[in-house]
Amino acid sequence: MRGAELTETLFTGIAQLVTPAPGPQRGAGMRELTVLPDAALLVRGGVVAWVGAERDAPAAAHTHGLGGVAVVPGLVDPHTHAVWAGDRLRDFEARAAGVSYEELLARGGGIRSTVRATAAASQAELVALARPRLQALRESGATTVEVKSGYGLDFGAEVRMLEAVRELTAEFTLMPTLLIHVPPTEGHGEYVQAVCGDLIPEVARAGLATAVDVFCEKEAFSVVETRAILEAAKFHGLTAKLHADQFHALGGVDLACDLGALSVDHLEASGEAQIAALAASDTVAILLPGVTLHLGLPAAPGRALVDAGACVAVGSDLNPGSSPVFSAPLVLALAVRLNGLTPAEALSAGTVNAAAALGLRDRGALAPGQRADFLALHSPDWRDLAFALGARPVRDVFVGGKELTP
Ligand code: NIG
Ligand code: FE
Repeated sequence: MRGAELTETLFTGIAQLVTPAPGPQRGAGMRELTVLPDAALLVRGGVVAWVGAERDAPAAAHTHGLGGVAVVPGLVDPHTHAVWAGDRLRDFEARAAGVSYEELLARGGGIRSTVRATAAASQAELVALARPRLQALRESGATTVEVKSGYGLDFGAEVRMLEAVRELTAEFTLMPTLLIHVPPTEGHGEYVQAVCGDLIPEVARAGLATAVDVFCEKEAFSVVETRAILEAAKFHGLTAKLHADQFHALGGVDLACDLGALSVDHLEASGEAQIAALAASDTVAILLPGVTLHLGLPAAPGRALVDAGACVAVGSDLNPGSSPVFSAPLVLALAVRLNGLTPAEALSAGTVNAAAALGLRDRGALAPGQRADFLALHSPDWRDLAFALGARPVRDVFVGGKELTP
C-alpha cells in the first residue's frame, strides 16, 4: 500500500499535452483547452502531481518516454447499455427495409426482444458477453464507463444485470445505473409502484447502482411516471438520469432540470424551450450521435446547446438496437460531424463534462489532484483524436498512471 502510494513516474516526450480545466465546462468554456507543447506529466500514487514544460520538470523516481506524441485525458463514456444477451440483427435488416425503430418496439420486438434474451441469461453469461465490449471501449480510450441495466424487466433479471456489472468492476472502472427501460405490456401502474417500493430500495440497500435512469417516451414511461420513479430514487440516495426527447419532446427535459438530474440524454427531438431550460440548469445534456448515425434520426442540437451556454457531454450509448458503437473517439468524431461541436468542445464533452454527468469531479482533466487516467495518441497533434473515422487514434491507455496492456 505504502509502496504503491509512493510510486512516482515522470512521463516525458509529450509533443502536446491537451486538457480542459477540471470540473464541468459550459458554453464557450468548452473550447478553452490548455495546449502545452513539449510537456511532461508527473504522476504520484495514481494521481497527477504536476504538469508543465518538460524543461521545467521535477526529478522523479521513474521516467517513461512517450516518443513525441499528443497526450489527452482518458475519455469518460457516461451512457452505455453494455450488458445484453442475444442480438438485434433481424431488426437491423428490417430497419434497412424501412421498418422504424418505434414500430419494431410497438410490435414487441426491439428492446423487448433483447429483454427476453437477457432475462434468460445467467450472471456468468452476461459477464462473459459484456467483457469484450468493455475491453473494446477501454482500448479505444474510455477509462471510465457507465453501464445501465434495463434489459431485465423482471426484478431478478435487473438485479442480475447489476450484479454482472459489479463483477466486472474488478477489471474495469465502471459506474452502474439502474435503468427503468420499458414497462410490461400489462399492469403498467403496478409496475411503477413496485419499481418505487421494491426494486429501487433493494438496489440502493445492496449498493448495486449509484443512479436511476428512466426512458421517458411514448412507448415507455410518461413524465408523471418518470417523476415518481426518480423521486423514489432520490429518496433512497440515488442520483437521477433520464432518456428524454429521443422521439418526442414530452416534458422530460423540464422534469430533469426541475429534479436536478445529473444528466438528460438523447435530445434528438429537443427544441428551443428545452435548450433554454438546459442552459439555465446544471443538468448535463448528453448527446448520443451513434443513435443519429445508426437510426438515421435527426441529430440532437449540440451546437445550439453549447451556444446557449449548456454543459454538453457525449456518450456512445453502446447497445444492440440503437447504437452499436464500440469506440469512444468515434463518438467525439461523430459529435463534430453530426452535432456541430468543434473538436475542442468534443474533447471537453467526452472528458470533464462526461465525468460531471456521472457526478465525478476527480477525472477528465490533466491537472494536479486529478486521477492520472490519460491517453497517448499515435499522432503528435491532439486533433487527430476526433478526426479519424474507423481508425484507432489512441496508442496507449493509462489508468491511474499505469499502462494497460490490451
Ligand atoms: O438509449 N431508447 C432507449 N434505450 C436505448 C436503446 C436500447 C435498445 O434499443 O436496445 C437508447 O437508445
Ligand atoms: Fe440509452
